[in-house]
Formats: sequence, C-alpha cells, structure tokens
Amino acid sequence: MPLARSLSVTSLSGLEEWDEEFDLEDAVLFEIAWEVANKVGGIYTVIQTKARLTSEEWGENYFLVGPYVESNVRTQVELIEPTNPALKRTIDKMNSSGCKVYFGRWLIEGSPYVVLIDVGFTAWSLDTWKSELWELCDIGVPWFDREANDAVLFGFLTAWLLGEVTQSEEPPHIVAHFHEWLAGLGLVLCRHRQLPVATIFTTHATLLGRYLCAGNVDFYNKLANFNVDKEAGDRQIYHRYCLERAAAHCAHVFTTVSQITAIEAEHLLKRKPDIVTPNGLNVKKFSAVHEFQNLHAQSKNRIQEFVRGHFYGHLDFNLDKCLFLFIAGRYEFSNKGADIFLEALARLNYLLRVSVCKNVTLDVTVIAFFIMPARTNNFNVETLKGQAVRKQLWDTAQTVKERFGKKLYESLLVGQLPDVSKMLDKEDFTIMKRAIFATQRQCQPPICTHNMLEDSSDPILNCVRRIGLFNSSADRVKIIFHPEFLSSTSPLLPMDYEEFVRGCHLGVFPSYYEPWGYTPAECTVMGIPSISTNLSGFGCFMEEHIADPSAYGIYILDRRFRGVDESCNQLTSFLFQFCKQSRRQRIIQRNRTERLSDLLDWRYLGRYYISARHMALAKAFPDTYYYELNEPTSTSGFRYPRPASVPPSPSLSRHSSPHHSEAEDNDEEERYDEDLEAEKDRVNIRQPYALPFKNKSAL
Ligand code: UDP
Ligand code: G6P
Ligand code: GLC
Repeated sequence: MPLARSLSVTSLSGLEEWDEEFDLEDAVLFEIAWEVANKVGGIYTVIQTKARLTSEEWGENYFLVGPYVESNVRTQVELIEPTNPALKRTIDKMNSSGCKVYFGRWLIEGSPYVVLIDVGFTAWSLDTWKSELWELCDIGVPWFDREANDAVLFGFLTAWLLGEVTQSEEPPHIVAHFHEWLAGLGLVLCRHRQLPVATIFTTHATLLGRYLCAGNVDFYNKLANFNVDKEAGDRQIYHRYCLERAAAHCAHVFTTVSQITAIEAEHLLKRKPDIVTPNGLNVKKFSAVHEFQNLHAQSKNRIQEFVRGHFYGHLDFNLDKCLFLFIAGRYEFSNKGADIFLEALARLNYLLRVSVCKNVTLDVTVIAFFIMPARTNNFNVETLKGQAVRKQLWDTAQTVKERFGKKLYESLLVGQLPDVSKMLDKEDFTIMKRAIFATQRQCQPPICTHNMLEDSSDPILNCVRRIGLFNSSADRVKIIFHPEFLSSTSPLLPMDYEEFVRGCHLGVFPSYYEPWGYTPAECTVMGIPSISTNLSGFGCFMEEHIADPSAYGIYILDRRFRGVDESCNQLTSFLFQFCKQSRRQRIIQRNRTERLSDLLDWRYLGRYYISARHMALAKAFPDTYYYELNEPTSTSGFRYPRPASVPPSPSLSRHSSPHHSEAEDNDEEERYDEDLEAEKDRVNIRQPYALPFKNKSAL
C-alpha cells in the first residue's frame, strides 16, 4: 500500500489544542456501512460529514465500503479504476468470481474512495452463505426478512473483500470499522477467519431498544431486567439481534454514539462499549458573523411563499407574525416524539387562543411542519393547486403592474402627472377579479401534502383527527405533514433540508428513543434553537457540556423522570414561552445557539474515532502498536458557561434568556460582542483524555 502516513491533530479554532504525533505507517482504514452513499437516516450523516476529516487523516489509505445502489451512484459517485494495486487485484478477482464490485470517488467533501458492492448480483450465493452462517454460529435467517438477507450477502462480501486485501504481498495493517448490525456480519466473519484486521463495531442504536421503545414498555426503568432472547424472539428479530450481538462481542473495540446508548448496549447486547464516539458535524464558518441570520431571513421568505400557496383563500393570519416549527426524521411516531409534539400543539393552540400577554393578545400563528417519510403516491391535487393559485396571483399582479407602469410612463412623457383614478381600467379589474375568484376554496387547507397510501391507519393523521387540529381559521396552530424528505427539485417546496431548517424558528424533537439525534445538532450549528430530550444522546451531551442549555436555545425536555402528561405540559410550556418572545429576543437567542457550533464539530469530536482506531490497532497488533488509557473514555472534561448577558438568577434564565423587558433587550444586544469575547475567554474545552498511542517501533 502506498504512502506511509503520520497524523497531527492540532488547532481546533477556539478549542484547546490537542497534539498527537504518531505513525500510521502502512495502516489502511476501511469503514463499512449500509449507508455509505445511500441515505436512510442519521448513519449516512455520520459518514458523509466525517469524510473530510478522515480523508485528511488517512489520505489515499481510506476506503468506504457500502452497497451499490444504481440511483445513488448516478447522482453521487464518480466511478474510476481502483487506485490501489492491492485493492485493484481484489476487486478484479471478486468480479471474475461472479461478484459486481465498483470503485469510485464519493462526490462529497473530502472526496473519499468508495468500494460499492452489488449485493443483489450475488444473491445466488445466499443459500450457501446462510447455511455457512448456521454451521458457524447457529444463526438462522428466515427467507422473508429481506433486510437480513441483504445483511448476510453484504457481510460475506465485505469479509471476502478484506480477506483478499490481506492476501497481498506486503499486507498493510488494516483497521476495519463496521457500523450498525446491517454491516456487522462482515466483522464476525473476519474474526472467525482470523484475518489480521483490527476491528471496530459502532452501534448507532440497538435493535431491541428501538423495538421495545416503539411498543408500550417502560424501557429505561426495566433496562436491567429484560429477558433479551425472549423479547427478541417475541418481536421476530432474534436472528437480527444475534447478528448484532455477535458483532458487538467479536469486535476488538466496541463503541456507541452516546452514554445513554452505552448503558442500553451493556444491558441489551451484554457488552459495555470501550469508548463513546459522539457524532459531529462538518461545521462551516461564515466570514461574516451574522451571515447565518441573513440566511434565516432568506429561507424564511421561501417558506412564507409556500405557506401563502398552501393557505390560499384562508390567509387570515399575519405571515410576519408566523412562527415555523418543525419535526423531521425517519417516521417512528412515538420514538421520535411526534405523539407528544402533536398533543403539545393542541394544548398550545388552546393557550394561544385564550392568552393575553402584557395586556396584548398574543397574535402569533404557529405553523408546525412534520417532515417524516411515509408511503405515498405523490403530492395531492389540493396542495399542488395551492401553489398554482399563488403563482397565478403573482403573475396577475405582475401583468397589472406592467400595464400600470406603461400608462404612468406615457403620462410622464407628455409632461403630466397621472390621473390616478384612470390608471387601472376595466380590463385590469376584470383580470384581478378573475384571479381573486380562483382563490375561492370550499375546503380547509390540507394537513397532508401527499396522497397517503395508508391514510386511515397513519399515526400522525389519526392523531390530528383525534385532537381536531384541522387548519381552521380559529386555530392558532396549523399543521402541515410533508411525508417525504425535502428536496430542492420538489415542485411544491423546492428547498433542500438545510435551507428549510435555516428558515424555521424552532426544531422540535421530543424523542423517547434517540441514541444521538442529528436533527437538533444540525439546528444548533445553523443557529436555530431546538427542543430535544434527556433521553436523547444529543440532549444528554449538551446538558453535560453547557451550564445553562436553554439560555443558548437548547431546550431539553425531561422525559426521564416525568410521566408522559407532565412531559407534554413541559413541552407546551417551552413552546408557549417561545411564542412569547419578540423578534429581537429570537435574534439574540439564535446568536447564542450558533455559538455552540464548535462543540459539535468533527474537528473536535473526531478525536474519539481516532482513539477507537488506536485502541483497535493496539489490540489486534500488540507487537506493533501500543495504547494506554489514562482517563475514563467518556466525553467529560469541559463545560460552556452561562452566557455573560443572562441574569445570574436561575429563575430568570430558566427558559432561556429572552424574557426581559425591551430596555434589557437593547442593553443585551449592545453587549453581544463583548459577551462573545468574554465567553471565548471563559470557554475552556479541555482535551478529554490523553491518547498515549505510539507505534511501538518508535518508542
Ligand atoms: N434529513 C434529511 N432530509 C429531511 C429530513 C431529515 O436529510 O428532509 C436528515 C437529517 O439531516 C438528519 C437525518 O435525516 O441528518 C436524521 O438523523 P437522526 O440522527 O436525527 O435520526 P435517525 O433517522 O438516524 O434515527
Ligand atoms: C434575521 C435577519 C433580520 C430579520 C430576522 C427575522 O436576524 O437578519 O433581518 O428581521 O432574522 O427574525 P424572525 O425570528 O422574526 O424570523
Ligand atoms: C441512529 C439513531 C440516531 C443517530 C443516528 C446516527 O439512526 O436513531 O439517534 O443520530 O443513528 O448515529
């Protein structure tokens, strides 16, 4: 393998420097996941956002391995000849033995190499491999479980690939990092075949955890007492569970994405993770500090345009006083907390209808978006019509404006001020009346933007029916359910997810089961406040590292020590407090939120992955590598102080800063820059633990 590499991690802009020099001579990193160049959920985000940092560290010796999905490859991957001789030989050999393995560059930041395996093409081996799996470890995979069948094919093929690479003349030291149970079998096979490979398994959620939480189980209180085999069997996922547990136990190093999932893994998978590897993001810094505020305003305008169309004929609320809230992610109704969000919205609707704030009725309108993909057969007619009507009104206004402008021009040309009463003629009025007639609507603005295939059993729609939030004029809280991930090519809401998030005011993610939860983290780095929970990895991480999270627009809902109804009340109170903020207060809060970005940057959090790899190398190749753990492998060691401009009394700052008088607000904004400087001084993010990792020969 080419190029010996050494690593130096320094300068984490604003965070304490972290120096580590060591040799990764002849080491090669393979990172294997089903979501490589294949978007399903958050694991894709982990891999895609981390790629730049990992490529910087490993250069030509970094390879991602994932499934070949033609539609993804067409849009995201540039296929090329393998650059590495050992890998070229491997891929050629596999392809001449009935496989289809592709090599390319993934067109994302860092442009990492990808090896993509067409598992369907090797489906002819499925039965043989399944019986081998049975012989090997008594795991029987039923024919009807398509995902598990894919996991078997992917597992055997990745182990084959790694096995071939180890056959090269001068085999490198290989680190193979497998993500999630779908990729886990490759790891089990590597160990069984005693390949000289340092293995890491990261679980992003446990299968049983996800299933148990989605049911009606008091999960966190019973964690230590589950009969795991029986529970997995009852849910018909015993074979998947076995694959996951085997991978966790076979790995040299086992990691998970948060402390809360570490505890869960210890009980459900029966192995305590060696290290927690929290998820980061690729944080982009703008040269102008307030650029993200401008982006908010731009994106908000575009959402407002959509809302104009969606509510045509019922635009009886002030769009400038509209707050956009949203929840997004895979459609797991109760795990993601969509259930209590809806309930809290119903309560908020009541509060907004009856409330008077500072003797003035609160005239905000809340529009809550649900972005969760479900089975549909495309957009519905009413929703598309809304956008068409809006467009038509716009065109009409342009036509009349042009005619008006022409008359005005002609009048000025002859040196006369126009007679305003004659500027619009009969034809203009006819055009406008026709356009207004088109906005007549017999029905309420739709809740759902698409035709749902399972409309009558859909949990969100059923909940909306129960709580009666139907976008009527009297409702102060409106709901829009967009059961598809967002895309800039959509004819309805042509925005990608990032643009949409920037345009919203608050992300609401009241999850019950959430090992990490990228959605609130993404909000944070874009300067958008969010609500998460103390049952999510992200929420716990922020609680641990920030003295007063809500002051920074990080609201953490208590779902651990409170009953559902109480949590729902707390959520309602967060939402209501948020609605009471003035524009100025929201701007200040967004500034504070954005200041937390460094904490979530891979440049800082990537060190845990680095550590995991060192540990694995030292365990697999003890003669060459050496690793000594000094401190506990947790993310402890730093804490953001309360913003200097928040009054010291905890009662005043409990629900985030911005509940002061207008005078205090002015004062606060002026103090913003000072505040920022003061905090830079005070924030002291220490190196979490030393990494005394050495190439032994260098000792
Ligand atoms: N997401 C997206 N488009 C959307 C909505 C969500 O790409 O329209 C992404 C979002 O950016 C996030 C991921 O989906 O990175 C969800 O990850 P998370 O960790 O929150 O939850 P998971 O789905 O993995 O449980
Ligand atoms: C940003 C823009 C301001 C705009 C504000 C709206 O801060 O820079 O020009 O007034 O957003 O904030 P709001 O919370 O009302 O969407
Ligand atoms: C899983 C979890 C999610 C996490 C993601 C990435 O899908 O459900 O909470 O953010 O993996 O680790």
